[in-house]
Amino acid sequence: GNEENLPQRILELLDSSKEGFNSITLAAEWKIDHQKLIGGIKSLLSNERLLTTKDVSENRLALTAEGNQIASEGSHEFRVFELVGSDGCAQADVAKQSFGKLGLSKAMAAGWVSLDKSGAGVRVIRKVQEVEDVVRKQLDALKVGESPVGDKEKQELKKRKLISETVVKGLHVSKGPAFTTNLAKQEADLTPEMIANGSWKDKTFKKYNFDSLGVAPASGHLHPLMKVRSEFRQIFFSMGFSEMQTNKYVESSFWNFDALFQPQQHPARDAHDTFFVSDPSVSTKFPADYLEKVKTVHSKGGFGSIGYNYDWKLEEAQKNVLRTHTTAVSARQLYQLAQEGFKPSKLFSIDRVFRNETLDATHLAEFHQVEGVIAERNLSLSHLIGIFTEFFKKLGITNLRFKPTYNPYTEPSMEIFAYHDGLAKWVEIGNSGMFRPEMLLPMGLPEDVNVAGYGLSLERPTMIRYGINNIRDMFGPKVDLQMIYNGPICVVQMQFEEYTRDEFY
Ligand code: PHE
Repeated sequence: GNEENLPQRILELLDSSKEGFNSITLAAEWKIDHQKLIGGIKSLLSNERLLTTKDVSENRLALTAEGNQIASEGSHEFRVFELVGSDGCAQADVAKQSFGKLGLSKAMAAGWVSLDKSGAGVRVIRKVQEVEDVVRKQLDALKVGESPVGDKEKQELKKRKLISETVVKGLHVSKGPAFTTNLAKQEADLTPEMIANGSWKDKTFKKYNFDSLGVAPASGHLHPLMKVRSEFRQIFFSMGFSEMQTNKYVESSFWNFDALFQPQQHPARDAHDTFFVSDPSVSTKFPADYLEKVKTVHSKGGFGSIGYNYDWKLEEAQKNVLRTHTTAVSARQLYQLAQEGFKPSKLFSIDRVFRNETLDATHLAEFHQVEGVIAERNLSLSHLIGIFTEFFKKLGITNLRFKPTYNPYTEPSMEIFAYHDGLAKWVEIGNSGMFRPEMLLPMGLPEDVNVAGYGLSLERPTMIRYGINNIRDMFGPKVDLQMIYNGPICVVQMQFEEYTRDEFY
């Protein structure tokens, strides 16, 4: 093809010419794209002093779409002249044509036609026998790059938007002081061997190209959920929280439910709501003293509570489940805290939980919970509200309200609402409460210690931030990996929407 071995063709041309060439002219002569020719010249320029170049520019005239139409069909005024014919025609018939209005005024200005108002309707009649369609001729000539028209004509054609002028930048190229048609192969790399055997002295090296773009390194990309998780972690850390260990998807019913004072006949402990693990189906190691206390508080009461008054069964507590909330982790951690000797603690976790849900656009059978736990002597609900206010402020959410709700393990319990400017309504963004004494005292925590907890989902804020409407586009087998690849490192403004709490508890 025309573009093959361009650098060599350029060198051979220069070899046989004295003055060199203009790239714009040469591209037209060789019938190749000007930019391709410039590319060929640029590649030769990496050889020092091989070529001498000078910037040149040329004004190019090109026909517009309308200019092209006129070049093939004639100018508007000429078409009016033809339509009128030697007998003349009604002005209304001229006006109907696409070229009629402009053509008539131009043809009248040129003195080709005139209006005859003597009869019933206005007629257009010819004033001369023959005319020459100059505009079409000019455009035809320009089209093949011939006969550059005079300045006045050029301005007129431009004004009528039949032609446009562009500036083409090119190079005048001539032989440089080190001109040769025999280019030595240029080395791209200086190797240890070249240094060792001294061959580097006779080699020519490719010039370093500081403009070339580097190769994007192949690397992994964080999933949007993981990016938002790291933001939440930063917020917790900045408020003095430490992270709980959550590496336990399989949990016993004991820690997931019983330790949280959730009665064994509670509907959430049903296969409709919870995934039970069949192999291994049970856990058998529990702290004996503590288990005994949990059993007592459920079945008979204690610590000032009348309990639930039912026959608590070990077999039920032993059943393994996929943990349904990270509060199971919090329970283990609070028990641990009591064993080690209580000290005020702020703890958080962000990890996966599982629920036997009906799947839809906003629900999957697994999702992530963000959970905070604050254990402190004489902690009150107003402390908890203060902590929420600070936590959500760091997310850019400032307008909070609380509504009483029910959790088996907290009293009082509050749903957290925030005002959503976009939706212009209060939406639920989290669930919270003060853990009950029936949960805390059997663990051995001091009586004056109160523990506050709260939870929200990681999926909701992530979907809102990354503009994902269907949870299945974010998580699971249908995820488009390009979405993860293209996702911004972070999104500055944290927005929120309804935290749809399931009717689980
Ligand atoms: N476990 C609750 C939920 O799944 C959240 C919560 C955590 C509520 C701690 C109160 C205290 O919605």
